[in-house]
Amino acid sequence: MLQERVPDLSRSVTSLVEPDRVRREVYTDPDIFELEMQRIHERVWIYCGHLTQIPKAGDYYTVQVGCQPMIMVRKSDGGVAVLHNRCPHRGNMICGDLKGNTGEFFRCSYHAWTFHHDGKLKNIPMMESGYQGTRFGKGNPDCNVKPAARVEVYRGFVFASLAKDGPSLKEFLGPAIVAFDDMCDRAPEGEVEIVPNCFRVIQRSNWKIFMENQLDALHPSVTHQSTGRAAHEVEKQIAKKTRKGEAPLSYHMLSAFATVTIDKWDGFQTINYPHGHSILTGYMGLRPQDPDTLAYDKIMIKKYGKKRFEEIIGVNIHHVLVYPGLSVQSPLQQLRAVRPLGVDRTLTEIWHFRLKGAPEAIYRRSLAYYNLVNSPATLINADDLENFWKCHQGLASEGGDWVSFHRHYGRDLEKNGVVESAPNMGTSEAPMRNQMKAWVQYLQG
Ligand code: FES
Ligand SMILES: [Fe+2]
Repeated sequence: MLQERVPDLSRSVTSLVEPDRVRREVYTDPDIFELEMQRIHERVWIYCGHLTQIPKAGDYYTVQVGCQPMIMVRKSDGGVAVLHNRCPHRGNMICGDLKGNTGEFFRCSYHAWTFHHDGKLKNIPMMESGYQGTRFGKGNPDCNVKPAARVEVYRGFVFASLAKDGPSLKEFLGPAIVAFDDMCDRAPEGEVEIVPNCFRVIQRSNWKIFMENQLDALHPSVTHQSTGRAAHEVEKQIAKKTRKGEAPLSYHMLSAFATVTIDKWDGFQTINYPHGHSILTGYMGLRPQDPDTLAYDKIMIKKYGKKRFEEIIGVNIHHVLVYPGLSVQSPLQQLRAVRPLGVDRTLTEIWHFRLKGAPEAIYRRSLAYYNLVNSPATLINADDLENFWKCHQGLASEGGDWVSFHRHYGRDLEKNGVVESAPNMGTSEAPMRNQMKAWVQYLQG
């Protein structure tokens, strides 16, 4: 853990957050951002990547954990390491590329110090003559590349924590672990593989604005109405011309934003857990009876049996939020990872996974959703990005001091620390209240 740079601020966080509203500085103050990085993103379990990104020994991917540039690397023994991307000699980054294969060892491009995949020093050129009598040399751990304090893998998903102590990955995830189980269980082989490379979008807004939007069931039928309506018009015209009177499913993925109205979204439900995690229930009806789906069902039933297949396919999840940095749509095999870059700049990585053993057509269908709804090329994403930027601009102004999270406040159902939105109140701002509750707890240390 790095030395804290703004130690006093944490004492005043309670004055910034009330159960139903939050001060605007929470989103705009650079000192608060710095404290968040130290006490949240550089302490909790942060998603680094998937094992299938680095299949061979020496394969690596660089990734940001909090403010720290890190390297996720496949070791020679088949395990995975997550290392600080910094040479212990004079500080040079070990890997300048986004990804690659480092061969049998890392070699710093500055003075050729070499390191094993686990970060341990392998060699310093002319070590004997150059370092004799100094405290630098093979036995000194300061000569190793510093590893993340903890690394854990769950069903192929790699997480790192920069804090020595804290809950295990499973304890941290709690019921939100269903995101990874649901995604993998839908694969006939029980595993997913990553689609190499992702979309990367830099949002000009604070990271929490993105996280609060993910389970905001109130916004889709408003924010995305124009996109949904345009798609619905085209869908109707195409349907008229076809023999069966149906347009391809991809039109439905977009038109749903206009046809699913706010009262329908209220029929969904959010379940909000400790640590800021949440689930939005309600599956999007992407289980049609077309030949591709039926072929997939047949493979799954053969693999798991009818009963287990129905359990797997019946998991009622629209979206899982793993606070503070992950938004997972498990039935569609998509995941968005949040990497805060600054108080008003946030990188999101939009990843897509393939169900191992499933027919190609099933992959193509979820790929269509990825491109039509989550990619930077779609109007849906542009609709959201515009709101995020405008929210940040508004919060940076002096037009008001508070952000309101009052929707259905006082009506949530709470039991054993789990907060559910009440029946037919799926648009409750319970997930935002839950995130801010966790935020205060983290910042208070
Ligand atoms: S900075 Fe890496 S070897 Fe000198
Ligand atoms: Fe949206």
